[in-house]
Amino acid sequence: MHFKKPFVITSLCLLVFLFQQCSKKDDGTTTTSETVAAPNLPATAFNYINTYPAFIQASLNVNDNTPADNAITNDGATLGRVLFYDKHFSKNNTISCGSCHKPENSFSDNAVLSKGFNDGLTSRHSMALLNVRFYKSGKMFWDERAPTLEKQILQPIQNTVEMGLTLAELETKVKSLSYYPALFQKAFGSTQIDSVRIAKAVSQFLRSIVTFQSKYDQVKQGLAAFTADEAAGEQLFLAPAPGGGAACAGCHTPPMFLTSSPAGPFAFPDPDDAGINNQNRFKSGSLRNIALTAPYFHNGKVSTLNAMLNGGPPGSPANIPAHSVAPADVAKFLAFLQTLTDNSVTTEARFSDPFK
Ligand code: HEC
Ligand code: HEC
Repeated sequence: MHFKKPFVITSLCLLVFLFQQCSKKDDGTTTTSETVAAPNLPATAFNYINTYPAFIQASLNVNDNTPADNAITNDGATLGRVLFYDKHFSKNNTISCGSCHKPENSFSDNAVLSKGFNDGLTSRHSMALLNVRFYKSGKMFWDERAPTLEKQILQPIQNTVEMGLTLAELETKVKSLSYYPALFQKAFGSTQIDSVRIAKAVSQFLRSIVTFQSKYDQVKQGLAAFTADEAAGEQLFLAPAPGGGAACAGCHTPPMFLTSSPAGPFAFPDPDDAGINNQNRFKSGSLRNIALTAPYFHNGKVSTLNAMLNGGPPGSPANIPAHSVAPADVAKFLAFLQTLTDNSVTTEARFSDPFK
């Protein structure tokens, strides 16, 4: 049988077109609802329950926001990990929580603003998700509008820019995926799937992301020593600012470099966003792994730690009250802040994307 030339050309064009459509699956731009492959999980669940060094455990004892009915279990955090990275969480199956909270950026986003399922942009910079269980009040977001982590989890899912699902749609979708009943059974003792359980499991996963293996942690346990610059940087971080201003540590309190709640009015020059209760106050997440989470601040307008510490001219985005230091001290602050980096949370398999 002989094909006519135009037919062959048309067929070739069709093939090329189909191939392009298929390959779109990988770059997240498709708007069809194809299925994401099942996750790769170990036969025995990873361990999410760590023994922390005593000085970290002491802080956890005072600040832990884990509710009595949602303690971390290995099976609960495993389910949470799968949900966190599952692109079915968005209306067109293009993005997961992990798309805006990337493990390599310590669960933040290297973009100033993040893209939602329909390419719309978030109104604030993504927050790094680590040590969230040490935030005593449990309030989440830069403006603390979510009263607890469990309540926060369901907000991005329903946000019309971020993931665009109703809770009913979410439940229907999760129920339709073959790999979930067994994971819910292990985590909660039955195959029932609902948004309350979804929020609980993701919260368990997020509360398990704790940094305790940085150089700073080794020094505090007497297992390593700071260099001269690192040690000088720590002293500067702890000392009141010249002229009597608050010490960095007064607001970013060791050992997790979080506050239990934003202490008082903090004037951040942003005409578009007044933060908590419109009082020019913002939450700051943990400064641990801060070297991995650029850009900075609620609007992402400070591109590097160096820019923040140098301040820049009045009115420039990096000129933030209480955040610039004497030029001679910049290198010391940088050296100290880098000792807070713990790459275990960015590289360990138990925190990574199981769909990859
Ligand atoms: C489209 C990007 C995007 C997606 C998708 C997304 N987030 Fe976020 N996330 C953000 C941004 C931006 C903020 C800060 C928003 C604000 O403060 O108004 C944030 C803040 C948070 C916070 C607050 C952290 C803190 O310390 O207060 C948590 C927790 C969080 N996200 C978890 C999740 C979870 C869980 C999912 C999936 C269900 C998710 N996010 C999906 C962009 C995203
Ligand atoms: C009066 C309280 C206060 C003091 C003092 C303070 N900070 Fe902050 N810091 C904050 C708040 C609040 C934010 C978040 C503000 C925002 O995003 O609008 C923040 C944000 C940051 C960030 C960016 C965090 C992120 O996730 O993007 C870094 C880094 C930082 N501070 C370091 C320092 C250093 C270093 C010092 C001392 C030189 C210092 N801070 C002094 C309250 C304070």
